Amino acid sequence: MPSTLPLGDPAPVDGLLPAPAAEGADAGADAPRDFGLYVHVPFCRVRCGYCDFNTYTATELRGVRQSDYASQAIAEMRFAAGVLDASGQPARPLAPVFFGGGTPTLLPAGQLVAMLAAARDTWGIAPGAEVTTEANPDSVDASYLRTLADAGFTRVSFGMQSAVPHVLATLERTHDPERIPDVVRWAKDAGLDVSLDLIYGTPGESLEDWQRSIDAVLAERPDHISAYALIVEEGTKLARQIRSGQVAVPSDDLQADMYERADAAFGAAGYEWYEVSNWARDAEHRSRHNLGYWVGNDWWGIGPGSHSYVGDTRWWNVKHPAAYAQRIAAGESPAAGRETIGADARELERILLLTRVRGALHLRTLAPEARPAVAALIAEGLIDGPAALRGTLELTLQGRLLADAV
Ligand SMILES: C[S@@+](CC[C@H](N)C(=O)[O-])C[C@H]1O[C@@H](n2cnc3c(N)ncnc32)[C@H](O)[C@@H]1O
Ligand code: SF4
Repeated sequence: MPSTLPLGDPAPVDGLLPAPAAEGADAGADAPRDFGLYVHVPFCRVRCGYCDFNTYTATELRGVRQSDYASQAIAEMRFAAGVLDASGQPARPLAPVFFGGGTPTLLPAGQLVAMLAAARDTWGIAPGAEVTTEANPDSVDASYLRTLADAGFTRVSFGMQSAVPHVLATLERTHDPERIPDVVRWAKDAGLDVSLDLIYGTPGESLEDWQRSIDAVLAERPDHISAYALIVEEGTKLARQIRSGQVAVPSDDLQADMYERADAAFGAAGYEWYEVSNWARDAEHRSRHNLGYWVGNDWWGIGPGSHSYVGDTRWWNVKHPAAYAQRIAAGESPAAGRETIGADARELERILLLTRVRGALHLRTLAPEARPAVAALIAEGLIDGPAALRGTLELTLQGRLLADAV
């Protein structure tokens, strides 16, 4: 998630949650919420020109040592367990677990393994739970991936972005695209599920370039594919290059053509879209981590700048690893602020998130006054009529191109 933090209310030093946060979490509830763990690893070797994530290169760390990070993250896990317990939360084994970044795989494999082991000791991991790490293709080798798999990781998500050297160069990616088949094979040999991330709409990328990336991703037969339109984030080098006229953003029409091409090719190869930017080879391989966010499950986000969401309370940690290290060393909550989501805001958020997930929004859960809008969107060809008759909201291809507007 991009790195700007919201304002919110001050967060208490002891991290305790308001009592209603526990409601609906226990097994006695109608639909008990899953509890996931996100561990942010805020380090990258270099910063890509388009990226606004909360991540730091060695020169930006203000004396913080990457080698101390795992023990800080583990300390936050222990702190989190105490807070959840004292706030009346039922004990729930984790499902899913996700290490994201930054570049988690910049740390030695042993440190990811230690963090996962601490999470398991603290909460337990639900049987069959998805345990993912993000990885840059130039940050792992076969033995690294095998170490992760042996320790309980089930899935790796590689930032492939493109197969075309000049596109990767514009994105300032450091990996050689020829390495992708190797890393995918090593991951599969280790027994890990594989997801590949692509970005489309990079300045200078043609439809033919994009087709090469689509073909390259499909040649690897991954379990899961994400394809994101390049977002020009304020404050990034890419935004400055665009403002100065050094590079030009592609037109909306070209981006739409790129999305349509990807969707058609992925569909023909047996991958079904299940969220606007995500395709899986079957329902089993949809990302539980992403779905957890979208359907409103609880999760605790460990690390600098991480967001957490439990019940209707959301909070976010201090951004810089140095500030985070200080809070953890003092035994204080690393939260910078928090907010409680009211019923109206929660409903709006639920609709916004679930609209993008195929068939996830049940039309009977919408307020009666929303029904005419659904009928109008069907008439405009943005929502699928037959799916609506079955009671769920499913965007058409046109609807996915205009998902935000829908
Ligand atoms: C933040 S990265 C972390 C994983 C790893 N460091 C990497 O880059 O592969 C996760 C994914 O976010 C996506 N991403 C980051 N910034 C983006 C942007 N400005 N527009 C679109 N996608 C972006 C990329 O596809 C990337 O693979
Ligand atoms: S490697 Fe990933 S997290 Fe790091 S700067 Fe690049 S896109 Fe962002």
